[in-house]
Amino acid sequence: MLFWKKKTVGLDIGSNYLKLVQLDSSRSGYELILFEMLPIQSDIITEGLVSDKNKLTAAIQDLLKKAGLKKGDVVLGISGHASVIIKRITVPQMNEDELSLGIKYEAEQYIPFDINEVNIGFQILGPKPQEVGQMEIVLVAVKKNVINDYAEVVANSGLTPIIVDVDAFALGNMYEINYNVMEKRNVALVNVGASKTNISIIKDGLPVFTRDCGIGSNYQTEVLMKALNISKENAERVKRGQAVEGIAPENAQMHVSNSSDEIYAEIYRSFEYFRSSVSEEELNGIVLSGGAALTKSFSEMMTERLGVPVEVADPFKKIKISKKLDAALVKDLAPIAAVAVGLALRRAGDR
Ligand SMILES: Nc1ncnc2c1ncn2[C@@H]1O[C@H](COP(=O)(O)OP(=O)(O)OP(=O)(O)O)[C@@H](O)[C@H]1O
Ligand SMILES: [Mg+2]
Repeated sequence: MLFWKKKTVGLDIGSNYLKLVQLDSSRSGYELILFEMLPIQSDIITEGLVSDKNKLTAAIQDLLKKAGLKKGDVVLGISGHASVIIKRITVPQMNEDELSLGIKYEAEQYIPFDINEVNIGFQILGPKPQEVGQMEIVLVAVKKNVINDYAEVVANSGLTPIIVDVDAFALGNMYEINYNVMEKRNVALVNVGASKTNISIIKDGLPVFTRDCGIGSNYQTEVLMKALNISKENAERVKRGQAVEGIAPENAQMHVSNSSDEIYAEIYRSFEYFRSSVSEEELNGIVLSGGAALTKSFSEMMTERLGVPVEVADPFKKIKISKKLDAALVKDLAPIAAVAVGLALRRAGDR
């Protein structure tokens, strides 16, 4: 509780936008006191890795200037199948301390990287039904060199990195404080960014399935550029439902729909995999976040294609917005802040 007052900064380093969120917490709940975004060049983060440290440092410094922040404790997030492995596995029943000691041994067979090159974490889910003496856990492994690269850049920009979280778990935290966890129902948290999509299926408040796919809203941009023979800037306008000279709105919308199909197909494949490998139960709902959620009609089309009701995430549903901020603007961009809000909820000393 000593740390509770300290307002950590949630920093979501996306391949298209940096997002920064700071929350204040009091007895009456959370208050958003800072939210800033900054677009970054496309060659700074590639495939979830930092490919240009100097440019990223400079960009974070620009963002801090914009936010009027000089220093602070930062929680950052990592995702992507090349750096993070999240798996639900079965291990012999033991307590948390015993598992801490034995996790490396238990995890080795599930991790496609050298076990000494990853940081390992876990969450115990509970006894495995029908298998006496066994329990299920969620195993998390993140490549140390990736963590180090991000932490180094954040430190160079003048901030203090205190926690490196996983985007999918940040989404889970965002969901937990804003939505009533639905018992016995499977809810998929789907964050469609520019170059990747994080999927996390939550049941009874616990993540039962997590996957990152390498497709995002950039794919829509590329398809639109080719199909309509337009510039990147104009493709971005079309995605947002804004007028572009020479393109009829119905035509534009048809192409946005076409350009989204492959993203829906990828999400569908993950859901199929969930149904075949984890649980044959139905998915009851999708909570959609990320920049793609701002694409015109994206969520409505998604409901139709996937046959599951889609709700656009509001990470500020139960968070008060400070009077110092432009509440209307914050609400308009809210879905893009989902991961950053989840990160900002973490506190020093958290497990
Ligand atoms: N109104 C909008 N404002 C900003 N971005 C939008 C909007 N509508 C659609 N987008 C798209 O959303 C994407 C950016 O979303 P987001 O910030 O979630 O991605 P990111 O976190 O930077 O990327 P990633 O997590 O994949 O590395 C871009 O492809 C952008 O074109
Ligand atoms: Mg992102």
